[in-house]
Amino acid sequence: MPTSSASSSIMVAVMLAALDAVPGYRVLEIGTGTGYNAALLSYRLGAQLVTSLEIDQKVAAQARKALSDTGYGEISVITGDGALGHPAGAPYDRIIATAAVHQIPYSWVEQTRPGGRVLLPWANSYTGALVTSTITVAQAAASLPKAASCGCGSGADPWPL
Ligand SMILES: C[S@@+](CC[C@H](N)C(=O)[O-])C[C@H]1O[C@@H](n2cnc3c(N)ncnc32)[C@H](O)[C@@H]1O
Repeated sequence: MPTSSASSSIMVAVMLAALDAVPGYRVLEIGTGTGYNAALLSYRLGAQLVTSLEIDQKVAAQARKALSDTGYGEISVITGDGALGHPAGAPYDRIIATAAVHQIPYSWVEQTRPGGRVLLPWANSYTGALVTSTITVAQAAASLPKAASCGCGSGADPWPL
């Protein structure tokens, strides 16, 4: 049986607070894993607004079943490489990666609305340290240069962790 674990509770909480996603926002998650974080997002936003990408077919199938068994079956779990994003659901208000990222795929910037955010645990090849970074997409991606700035959200309401 394939395995994939959820991030630590504190990391999940920190990232969801930084994501600053409010009802009505459309969110793309990269790395479905167990489906836990997708369920939390769905609890806040509604299943129709949550899409989650998982590269491992068997992990994705397990997550679909777990989500269905727990009443979150309407979340769209898609098998595919998160580096490509999911253009069919764009533009997103938020993209959150829950797998470590070494280079930020430009597809994520392109698929985020101006003013939207991309949140990721960034790791480099020197330290391996994970740093949670938020990129705010400053303008339409079509209008190059690739403008982005960093900032963190305020995360108003608690999440049901
Ligand atoms: C830390 S786990 C994610 C935890 C998950 N959000 C949860 O709530 O359980 C990372 C997941 O990202 C997936 N992953 C890694 N690289 C990926 C990629 N390029 N595209 C999509 N998923 C990827 C892994 O297979 C793994 O299931």
